[in-house]
Formats: sequence, C-alpha cells, structure tokens
Amino acid sequence: MSTTFTIDAATSRATPVSAPMKRLTVPAIRARKAAIAAGTGAPLVMLTAYTVRMAQLMDAHCDMLLVGDSLGQVIYGLPSTVPVTLEMMAAHGAAVVRGSHHATVVVDMPFGSYEASPAQAFENAALLMKQTGAAALKLEGGTAMASTIAFLVERGIPIVGHIGLTPQAVNALGGYGARGRSADEAQKIVADAHAVAGAGAFALVIEGVVEPVAAAITDAVAIPTIGIGASARCDGQVLVAEDMLGLFERTPRFVKRYGDMAAFVAERAERFAGEVRDRSFPGAEQLYAPRD
Ligand code: KIV
Repeated sequence: MSTTFTIDAATSRATPVSAPMKRLTVPAIRARKAAIAAGTGAPLVMLTAYTVRMAQLMDAHCDMLLVGDSLGQVIYGLPSTVPVTLEMMAAHGAAVVRGSHHATVVVDMPFGSYEASPAQAFENAALLMKQTGAAALKLEGGTAMASTIAFLVERGIPIVGHIGLTPQAVNALGGYGARGRSADEAQKIVADAHAVAGAGAFALVIEGVVEPVAAAITDAVAIPTIGIGASARCDGQVLVAEDMLGLFERTPRFVKRYGDMAAFVAERAERFAGEVRDRSFPGAEQLYAPRD
C-alpha cells in the first residue's frame, strides 16, 4: 500500500494525487471482528479528520476516518457539540472524502438531526450521504436509538453506534465524566450495546466507560467495538487527531499526546513575527526578480 502522494504542480497543494488504493468497505470493517478473534486481524484504527489535508496525511494509516461532530469545539470553538449543524458536517465530510482513498469515511449525525423520528433521521442521513460521499454515518444513543438505527440500516445506510459517554447528551449527563461506575449504569450501557448491535450497526464506539464494562461489551457483541477512554481490549481505538497531535494543552485522561503541535505552531508563529518585524523575511529567495 503506497503512502506517497504526488503533488500535481499544475493545481498545486489542493489536489495531491495518490497512488490508487482500494477503499476499505463497511463489510470489511465489520469482518475485522472475526479476524481479530481468530488472531488474523489487527485492531481497527480510527482518527478524526475534518479537513482535506489532514485526511490526505492520515488516510493511509487509518481503517476509518471519522468526521466527528467534535469539529464543533476543535474547528469552530463552540462550547460543545450541541450547536453543530448538518451543513457543517456536510461540508467537512465532503472535504474528508475528497482527501482520502483508503479509509472508510464515517460522518457524525449532529444533535437534533436524527432523534425526532426514524423518518427525520433517514431524511438527514440521506442528505449527508449524498453531499459527502461518505460510506457510513455515526449517531449517539443506545436502546432509545435502536429502532432508528434499524430503520436506517434496512434502507441502506451503514451506521456506527456510539454509547457510554455521549457528548451530545452533555446537558442531560451533567458533564463529561466516565460512565458505568455504578452497577445500574453499567447494566444500562451493556443493554445499550446489545440494542445497537442488534439493530444492525456495523461497529460501535464506546466512549468514557469504565474498563471492565467496555471489555465485557467487546466480548459480548458480534460487531467491532472502537474504544475511546474505554478498554485496550476493544477491537479498535479512536482519538480526536488534534488531541493526539498535542494541539491542545488540556485533554481528557484518555488522550495520549504523540506530539506538541501547540508549542510547534506557537514557536513558528513567534519566529515568523520576529522575522517580519526585523525585516529578515521575506529574503531574496522568496522574492521575484524582474526578467532581464
Ligand atoms: O465527535 C467525535 O470526534 C467523536 C469521537 C470522539 C468518537 O465522536
């Protein structure tokens, strides 16, 4: 599998051309559960992507790219995912599909776009599928959303479920604390997992759930589980790419920072500012000389 992008100089950085890759399909992702159990498949890798360039850079390394509604906070500076709109998800979803050739692209259905009824969910899901070209959508909720998930799946829309800490429900949950600490709550999350898997979702994100509960769900359901603050036993893992890259100083406990992008960006901005102010930028090599 090639990871090299060749820049088409005629159209510059907007349209890097990748060596052809076959995009992973929803059935291939679903089948990974059995392969992992048989010891022949690797855990699923999922990262969020919101822009074409980030998709281009991460695509070859991921099984799934998630256009998460976390873009509300990461890209738009919103206080939560609640204000995120269908239009935002459609625009960023389309960009990520344009920037990828290998990973299955999954787009989040934003708050308010699917909860009212299965028919509302289908109308908005179809719009997202048409406008983005993504292979699948993700929506939050367990037992309460099972009939909606079944309605979408039966009509040709592959769905990733999302249970445990569901950020769109932050106002109802009262915060972003881990879920499943009490026996009652743990039981409800396990029931949610069964309901979502039984409804036909092809994968399940488990977020912010105490480890033994996430591990037990992974053992119990027939679809791949993707953990975030869940368990190393999950069938895959997902992180918000900007968290993983260290773009933010404050991150939840479950984030591992693989770099310090915040310091990198601030330091380069400071250097650039210094060179503009002392007139060392632009130098001769950045300027156009007149033709002789
Ligand atoms: O919106 C998002 O980025 C997500 C992941 C954190 C799973 O739902």
